[in-house]
Amino acid sequence: MADKIIALAGATGELGGRIATALAKRGVSVRALVRVGTCAESTPSLRRSNAELCQVSFDDAAGLSEAVAGSSCVVSALSGLQEVIVVAQTQLFRAAEAARVPRFIPSDFSCDLTRVPRGENRNFDLRRAFHREIATSSVRATSILNGAFADMLTWKRSPLYDFARHQVMYWGSPDQSLDFTTMDDVADFTAAAVMDPSSPRFLRISGNSVSARDLATTASEVFGVPYELVLQGSLDDLADRIRTVRASEPASEASVFPPFQGMQYLHNMFSGKGKLEPLDNDRYPDVRWTTIRSLLEQKKDHA
Ligand SMILES: NC(=O)c1ccc[n+]([C@@H]2O[C@H](COP(=O)([O-])OP(=O)(O)OC[C@H]3O[C@@H](n4cnc5c(N)ncnc54)[C@H](OP(=O)(O)O)[C@@H]3O)[C@@H](O)[C@H]2O)c1
Repeated sequence: MADKIIALAGATGELGGRIATALAKRGVSVRALVRVGTCAESTPSLRRSNAELCQVSFDDAAGLSEAVAGSSCVVSALSGLQEVIVVAQTQLFRAAEAARVPRFIPSDFSCDLTRVPRGENRNFDLRRAFHREIATSSVRATSILNGAFADMLTWKRSPLYDFARHQVMYWGSPDQSLDFTTMDDVADFTAAAVMDPSSPRFLRISGNSVSARDLATTASEVFGVPYELVLQGSLDDLADRIRTVRASEPASEASVFPPFQGMQYLHNMFSGKGKLEPLDNDRYPDVRWTTIRSLLEQKKDHA
């Protein structure tokens, strides 16, 4: 596998760094495409993975094509809005086409954006606009859909847990199944998919398919205190709240993850529209799934 080179954009980011590490663990050489002006030398995951750093300007079609030439797959872990997800990713994809790179993994890494209707998640609409750009290419794309990053559940400002009040928030039903996968597991699965020449257009994974009720039960068992389920409202209430918050904060449209978009994500999950099924969890048997229980146990140990 040492002769394989993977070109990785977004390698200085949270997920991109983890993908670089996961690829290196599998013996794959990583060429990190780093934009001019970004200091990637100090990114620990890139140092650990021995990645070759290649400075690029996404506006320079010839230079970008040269940078991806010779790789067997271009992986994008870019994060941003229209100018990144549609414009820069399309520039990257065209560079892959020009250099005859056979495969491309777009920066999707979300719940099932193919099933969430247009207008219900601003960031998914951008990704689908990019999908339309690449639909007829001979470069084969594989999108990885993984639900929400499970790591967020343990944050102090977790979207669902209130650790101080021993509560779990939910909308609609506490029994709706929700998908969560850790960033490390997403990265490891992505690295496995990179090495799989027959990967399909979409791969769906979920390290944990759990309901709000399951989250409460697990936290009660780990922390030894009963966790209460707290209804925040119906799905229609949440949709109304999204409209109000979005209209009241027009400046937040410029943020990648503003509050209204986080709420859209929750709506996609609790409505079941973003639910991932069927799952490809078993496609690469060496990929292991980190449980929410183990994340909470780590949090308890570090408290
Ligand atoms: N499912 C979930 O719960 C969830 C949560 C968070 C993120 N995600 C997704 O995971 C993916 C990666 O996100 P992340 O959190 O790892 O992102 P991140 O840490 O913010 O990193 C973003 C990367 O994109 C690069 N970038 C940003 N703007 C660029 C531009 N204009 N041109 C070229 N490169 C640019 C950055 O490079 P510089 O270092 O040069 O700035 C950086 O390497 C995204 O698709 C994101 O939506 C999913």
